[in-house]
This record gives sequence, C-alpha cells and structure tokens, in this order.
Amino acid sequence: MDKFLIKGGKELRGTVAVSGAKNSALPVMAAALLTADKVVVRNVPKVRDLVTMSKLLAFMDAKVTANAIPASDYEIQAPRLNHAEASYELVKTMRASILTLGPLMARVGAARVSLPGGCAIGARPVDLHLKALEQMGAEIATSHGYIEAKVHGNGSRGRRLRGAHIVFEKITVTGTENILMAAALADGETVLENAAREPEVTDLIVMLRKMGAEICGDGTSTLRIHGVKELHGTEHTVIPDRIEAGTFLVAGAITGGDLTITNCEPKHLGAVIAKLQQAGARIDIVDATTIRVRGAEKLVAADVTTEEYPGFATDMQAQYMVLATQAEGTSLITETIFENRFMHASEMMRMGANISIEGHTATVPSDLRASAGLVLAGLVATGETLIDRVYHIDRGYEGIVEKLKAVGADIERVHAGT
Ligand code: UD1
Repeated sequence: MDKFLIKGGKELRGTVAVSGAKNSALPVMAAALLTADKVVVRNVPKVRDLVTMSKLLAFMDAKVTANAIPASDYEIQAPRLNHAEASYELVKTMRASILTLGPLMARVGAARVSLPGGCAIGARPVDLHLKALEQMGAEIATSHGYIEAKVHGNGSRGRRLRGAHIVFEKITVTGTENILMAAALADGETVLENAAREPEVTDLIVMLRKMGAEICGDGTSTLRIHGVKELHGTEHTVIPDRIEAGTFLVAGAITGGDLTITNCEPKHLGAVIAKLQQAGARIDIVDATTIRVRGAEKLVAADVTTEEYPGFATDMQAQYMVLATQAEGTSLITETIFENRFMHASEMMRMGANISIEGHTATVPSDLRASAGLVLAGLVATGETLIDRVYHIDRGYEGIVEKLKAVGADIERVHAGT
C-alpha cells in the first residue's frame, strides 16, 4: 500500500485549484439511474469512490462511458436496470453505495442493497432511510446482511412508491438524498421535514429539477417533492468540494504561507472561514470562486462544535484539530455528528500533540478526513513524517500530493514496494 513521506516546516505559497465535490458527485451519479435517457456529469473528482460508484452503476446494467478511469466527465445511460443490486463487496468499500437504494426503488420498485455495517467513526445505521421508504409504501426486510426492498404493484399505477409526510428524527445527508430521489418518481406529494441543508443536497435538487423533477424548499429543512411520471436526461456540473477547499485553508493558515484557492465556492465555507479568522488566519474572498489565506503571526485558540450545515462540518474536524495544536491557548473541540470521530487525535498525540479525549478512542484510523488531518500535521511538524496506508486519503482527495507540492510543500508519494 502507498505511503506519504512529508518533510515539515515549509510555508505553502501559490495557487491551488479545488476539484468537484465527492459528496455531490456520488448522489448525482446515482440519480442517473432515475431515467432511461443519457445523463452527463461533469467536474467529477478523480477519486476512488467515484470509480466505485461508476462500477456499481455499470453492474446494474447502466452504460457508463468515460474517456479514462478515473474521469472528470461521465456519461451514464440506464435504459434497463437488470440487476437492482449493490453487493457487499462494493458497499463495504464505499458506504455511499446506499445512495442507489432510493433511485432503484423509484425506477424499478425493487432493490437489494448490502447493509453498510458500522465504520470506524460510529455505528452509522441507515434506519431513517428505510423507515422513510416504508412510509412511502416499500416493504423492507433485512436478511443475510442485505436490505431487500420492494413495492407491490398497485393496480394501474404499477410498482410505484407513493408520496408521504416524512419527519426525519435526526438530520441525515444521504438519507435526505435517497428520499429526494425516491420521491421524485413517486405517486403524489412527499413532504420531508428536518431535511439536511448541505450544499450537496441542494446540488442534487438542482440536477433533479433539470431532469424534470418538481421540488421546492432547497436550502431549507422542509422539502416538498411532487412526484412526476418520468424524468429525462440532463447535463450537470458538480459543485466544488468545500471540504477539500477547507483543508487547503487550514494548510495555508498553519504553515504561515500565502495560498490562493481557486475553483471553490466561498459561500459554502462560511463556518470554516469564520472559525479560522477567529483563530487568527488572514482570509480574503478574492472573488466568487477564489479565496486567499495567509498564516497569522500567531494562531489563537478557538472552540469548535461540529454541526449540520451551515454549522462547522464534521468532515473538517480532524483538520481543525491540527490547527488547534498550533494555537496559543486551549481549544475545546466537540463532535456532535458521529459518536467516535477522534481516532486521528491518538496519532497526533504520537506526533507530540497534547490532546486529551473523554469518551471512546479507537485504535485503527480509517477515516479519510482524519488522514487529511495527519497530512496537515506533517506539514507543520519538525522533521519527517511518514504516513502509512494513504488509501483513505486517495478515496477523497484528487492529487493531494501534486497540489501541495505545487504550492511548496515537501511531500512525496512512496509507492508500495519501493
Ligand atoms: C454524509 C457525508 C459524510 C459526512 C456526513 C455528516 C456523503 C457521501 N457522506 O454521510 O462525509 O461526514 O454526511 O455530514 O455525503 N444516522 C442515523 N440513522 C440513519 C442515518 C444517519 O442514526 O438512518 C446518524 C448517523 O449515524 C450520524 C448522523 O445521523 O450520527 C449523521 O449521519 P448522515 O448525515 O446520515 O451521514 P452520511 O449521509 O452517511
């Protein structure tokens, strides 16, 4: 397995471009299952999870065309879906495979999707996705680790889900996306309350609307979806990755450099920008797609609590923890979204950070945002840092070594076997 070798202490200077959002591209590609027409998706980040998603769609008999793998543009066309199934083999490598459940139920009225199982950051159940689909008329059983869902034929209307009034007990991002896609082709109106307001949810709504879906309430926690008979093809460009942009903002702030981040959406980074400014980083919004970050003379402690959007993202918590280790004073970091998302802390402690944690600490780091946090820690550490098993960072960050190198970091990829 590949490793990263980082020599710390270099200021990062220059310009770095942000790729498309992984968490937007995943539901957008899954949404292509909702139509028999061709769907073109652009600005897809060239990362492993999207290759996995393209394989999953191809397995279901969608025709997936790209000029290379990984690709930034995909053409997907699913005239027929013969295998409405997401196998354990794929789901275990990518939990977001669950995003095919909603579209499959909407389009073919049946699906067999492996249960994702727990992961390093918590139990991460999908009960809310299933409960909502049941309210929409699906019959769901779980057997041998698989979710087996179907809609019974209901006369002239065929095997279609029906609209329902759904109130999520807890805000769930992929749950909201699954129900949006399911409801787009359901009979009647679905009202979804306590929906996630993440920009990736809004991006999916924009795309579904271009396919002919009738949805209102984007950006609010109540979504109304009026089901239509069928959806048609479209072209969609995925929004920039706010987590990648936020990671570079922290990189610029902690290395005391001068970094210009392009192709990003400053509007989606409000909580992160405010927190970094509070900690002393100098951040300027240059224009609608560009942010400049310069390190502070001195970083100062600032407490963070992760929250659903528009709050401070849990996916930025590990990166922020590195900044907190460099700040003067004590920062309190509270994780409210996942029960077990502090594994990176024990690795940072091995690098000399003084962190204490209350609650559970896991020993195996397997969270891609945590890996990004460790890369940032390597950038400011004195001496060399070797980060092993960079598989997780490769899942979510396109060309992170090349991008950091181009702005002055001393980082190399050490290939397995060398
Ligand atoms: C998505 C993101 C992930 C991010 C997370 C929170 C994708 C592909 N992934 O994950 O990067 O860290 O949002 O912003 O978009 N929950 C339940 N029951 C459910 C569903 C969720 O109890 O049926 C709980 C989860 O265990 C968690 C919380 O709700 O504690 C939020 O999870 P959720 O928003 O669903 O995360 P994901 O959509 O899996």
